[in-house]
Amino acid sequence: MSKSNTIFRIVFRSFPISPSKNTFVSRTIQRRTLTTIANDMTVDMTATDHETETETTPTQTTWSSKMIAWQAHSYSTIDDLVLTSNARSPTMVAAHEVLVRVKASSVNPLDVLMAEGFGQVLLGTIRQAQQMSLHKPVEFPLTLGRDFCGEIIAKGVKVKSFDVGDVVMGVVPPFHQGCHSEFVAVPEGLVAKKPDHLTIEEAAGLLYTGMTAWSALKLVGGLYIWKATNKNVLVIGGSGGVGNCAIQLLKHWGAKVTTTCDSTAINLVKGLGPDNVIDYTAKDARQQLEEHGKYDIILDAAGISYNKIGVYTPLLKGWACSTFITLRSPILHNTDSYGLVGGMVKNAIDLLVPNILSGAVFKGSSIRWGTFLPIECGIKELAKLAEEKKILIPLEKTFKFKDLKDAYKRVQDGHLRGKVIITFDKPSMDKARLTN
Ligand SMILES: NC(=O)c1ccc[n+]([C@@H]2O[C@H](COP(=O)([O-])OP(=O)(O)OC[C@H]3O[C@@H](n4cnc5c(N)ncnc54)[C@H](OP(=O)(O)O)[C@@H]3O)[C@@H](O)[C@H]2O)c1
Repeated sequence: MSKSNTIFRIVFRSFPISPSKNTFVSRTIQRRTLTTIANDMTVDMTATDHETETETTPTQTTWSSKMIAWQAHSYSTIDDLVLTSNARSPTMVAAHEVLVRVKASSVNPLDVLMAEGFGQVLLGTIRQAQQMSLHKPVEFPLTLGRDFCGEIIAKGVKVKSFDVGDVVMGVVPPFHQGCHSEFVAVPEGLVAKKPDHLTIEEAAGLLYTGMTAWSALKLVGGLYIWKATNKNVLVIGGSGGVGNCAIQLLKHWGAKVTTTCDSTAINLVKGLGPDNVIDYTAKDARQQLEEHGKYDIILDAAGISYNKIGVYTPLLKGWACSTFITLRSPILHNTDSYGLVGGMVKNAIDLLVPNILSGAVFKGSSIRWGTFLPIECGIKELAKLAEEKKILIPLEKTFKFKDLKDAYKRVQDGHLRGKVIITFDKPSMDKARLTN
């Protein structure tokens, strides 16, 4: 099978489909049952099996119980997030899903933005397409949180790689209910066993930023096709979560890596193994960037503003298919501002204009948009590297579950040096159960 076919298959399999709404898909999905249910669950989670015996109308295996979660009831500010013990528990909708009791999760910049409504139009449209509904789905109450570490407490019959009781790390795509909640259900392809030497907190912070870096470099940057050895890569913002992962992945793949960070982060970033670290606040920062250039790939892992990309494009190699990858694509912002159709038109303009005005296209280079993609082979590679101690996950700070809003504020304040983690500690969970 070709590489592109493999990627397509993996991406497609990563997005669970609701079989009850889809008779075409339903023929291919066998009747599912929960093979096991953990005995030591702290909430009453009796499985309610609504299944019929027919192959063509499979239905969902539904948890009827409630769980503890932080939720948004409208798009507002972080302060309006609500802690409840009455949230609806997740539903396993396919036989290849696992149900996980979350022990720790990270907070990403996307969580803060989504709480304020970022991406609501496009993410809402994807949810609607998944449900094959003519009506816009009601997204509230919305649970945020994109990556986690926890224990598998139930699994579908087609899950072969994991057992109940396994401690796994995983990711949840942004158009799904997140994991800042007691339980989360995800396809088995989106989880990997936690390496023994990693703490729960370290494992919880690896996969979202890791897969953002992996997807941007491998798929958008072309390293899935071209070997990274002999590539000269600049990572802008080596001090943050995505930057940390990008540096380590690139070094593992054999690239030459130059990265930028603030003077206060230089020691941390040097420990990740790049060839050159440049203090972006230094007077001669530009000169240093030029000395180590020109670059095959420039990855912006700092979230520099879109109109400043032109400052960096002259550092790209000419006529070498070199690429500037920004993770701040305007896709979600444009669809929020102009609607789905208008937003797509604006997206096309926003992709073309900087490529032309920066002169990138006139020397065979391009400005491209990178994004997180939940791809099974990437998750497996990250898990293997973590297992082999080839990837470190620096942590900025760990917060208790009850202090989730403080964790969000820490991410909102910026200048992070690694991941912000929330632990689902027992006192917080017990208190939430009693008081909410
Ligand atoms: N599209 C997607 O799917 C996706 C997914 C994940 C992340 N992202 C985006 O990617 C960016 C990075 O994410 P993250 O989770 O790694 O964020 P993060 O942990 O907040 O890291 C950003 C890092 O960049 C540093 N920085 C800021 N300005 C800089 C500059 N001019 N030069 C060099 N370093 C600079 C910051 O520290 P100092 O300010 O102290 O220098 C911070 O350490 C964010 O904009 C995020 O929204 C996009």
